[in-house]
Amino acid sequence: MRTVQVFDTTLRDGEQSPGVNLNTKEKVEIATQLERLGVNIIEAGFAASSPGDLFAVKEVAKAIKNASVCSMARSIKKDIDQAWEALQVAESPLLHIFLATSPIHREYKLRMSKEEILDTIDQMIRYGKRWFPVVEFSAEDAGRTELEFLSQVVDRAIRAGADIINLPDTVGYLSPEEYAKMFRYIRENVPRVDTVKLSAHCHDDLGLAVANSLAAIQAGVDQIEGTINGIGERAGNAALEEVVMAVKTREPYYQVQTTINHKEIYRTSRLVSKLTGMYVPGNKAIVGANAFAHESGIHQDGVLKNKETYEIMSPETVGKSESKLVLGKHSGRHAFKTHLEKLGYPQSEEQIDGLFARFKELADRKKEITDEDLIALVEEKVGEGNELYTLESIQLSYGSHTLPTATLRLKAKKTGEILEEAACGNGSVDAIFKTVDRAIGQKFDLIDYHIRSVTEGKDALGEVSVQLQLGESTARGRGVSTDVLEASARAYLDAVNRLLRRTKESKVSQSSKMVHS
Ligand code: KIV
Ligand code: ZN
Repeated sequence: MRTVQVFDTTLRDGEQSPGVNLNTKEKVEIATQLERLGVNIIEAGFAASSPGDLFAVKEVAKAIKNASVCSMARSIKKDIDQAWEALQVAESPLLHIFLATSPIHREYKLRMSKEEILDTIDQMIRYGKRWFPVVEFSAEDAGRTELEFLSQVVDRAIRAGADIINLPDTVGYLSPEEYAKMFRYIRENVPRVDTVKLSAHCHDDLGLAVANSLAAIQAGVDQIEGTINGIGERAGNAALEEVVMAVKTREPYYQVQTTINHKEIYRTSRLVSKLTGMYVPGNKAIVGANAFAHESGIHQDGVLKNKETYEIMSPETVGKSESKLVLGKHSGRHAFKTHLEKLGYPQSEEQIDGLFARFKELADRKKEITDEDLIALVEEKVGEGNELYTLESIQLSYGSHTLPTATLRLKAKKTGEILEEAACGNGSVDAIFKTVDRAIGQKFDLIDYHIRSVTEGKDALGEVSVQLQLGESTARGRGVSTDVLEASARAYLDAVNRLLRRTKESKVSQSSKMVHS
């Protein structure tokens, strides 16, 4: 059976989702989990886009040992130089160069002739090959490129020394049949095409990204590209967990395998959702909260008699355990630590200290603590550590005939200063958000607000996710608590921290650009 490589671009194309902005620590955290998941290539970012991105790609490159790490680069020398600057420390560095090839991109975006496109591809792949052992070339908008010209592009890329050739459906326009036909045409018409790996990269504008990736696999591609949870530009990219589980569940049909450790899928999905702030809908295939839930009586009856009546794969296959009552108020530190290890979340002694205190607080408020609750606690800790402001305490006053008022104490982490403020609002959530704005001295615009419960029951943990805007920038944030108002305050503050940190980082990078220019 042939093995199809998995190229993950959650940290590059996925990070291009509106409002998503991961810091270096979060990128390393996700990359480490992707390595555990068993992906073959991790696209860590676009090194030339900013000094911050270059730094993040370099840190990922240092941390990852069992996957290739790559950076995207436009077909210009400066981008390739920056990619090498970031990736030379990698165990297995890979350069990903792209240039658009379709008529609309050639005429309006690039203003380049076919000959100029072919020459640039040739020169830039040769330039990249001076340092990089592996070079992938992507013909952006391949899906809308004339097939005859596309074969000239692939031929030129092969002759210049590319190792992997990616033919993306950049705008999610093609049908599965058309996408498969494109790969078959290339395989039949380009000399020496069997000396390179062909790769598929699909966007989901018409909801066909996964179907198109599977069609490409059937047409013989060697690599599929996508993101966890399908996040990405516009409607997103092919959801890797869906492509991977389709070929696993229907192995005799697709006749391919991947190197993915399926039991890490659920955990990876949750981590990406938590750190990007991009909510996974309940009905999302493979990783949605309801993906394995049976609601109707007829289905429940069938499943009780034989699971396979309505279940084509089990939740355990993707690492999703049932929510069980596990620990309570009287559980000790050792039991807590051991249980987290069993769930696949080993923690250092120092991390356990903070987590155990949060666990005890939760156990005071909630009788039964489930696996889901514990995972939510751990995930809340991930990404903590470089906040500018933390929530010290919150107090609310609400009545049917009075204006809701919030009083908050925030701590400015750098100086230790305590900021105490109060404000009224149209509702309690509004009052909390206004209080944070007032304490920090900055007004943020709320673009999106979601609330859901992590587990079942009246005392379930509530999870709030928000999206905020400050000037041109947007950021998402999340907060978890048994109290939805506290969760709202945490989520808002999380997004505020991300926005302020980004403004700070961009000031630093602008001044460093001025120093270097
Ligand atoms: O969708 C696309 O075409 C891309 C390329 C840059 C690979 O993301
Ligand atoms: Zn893309």
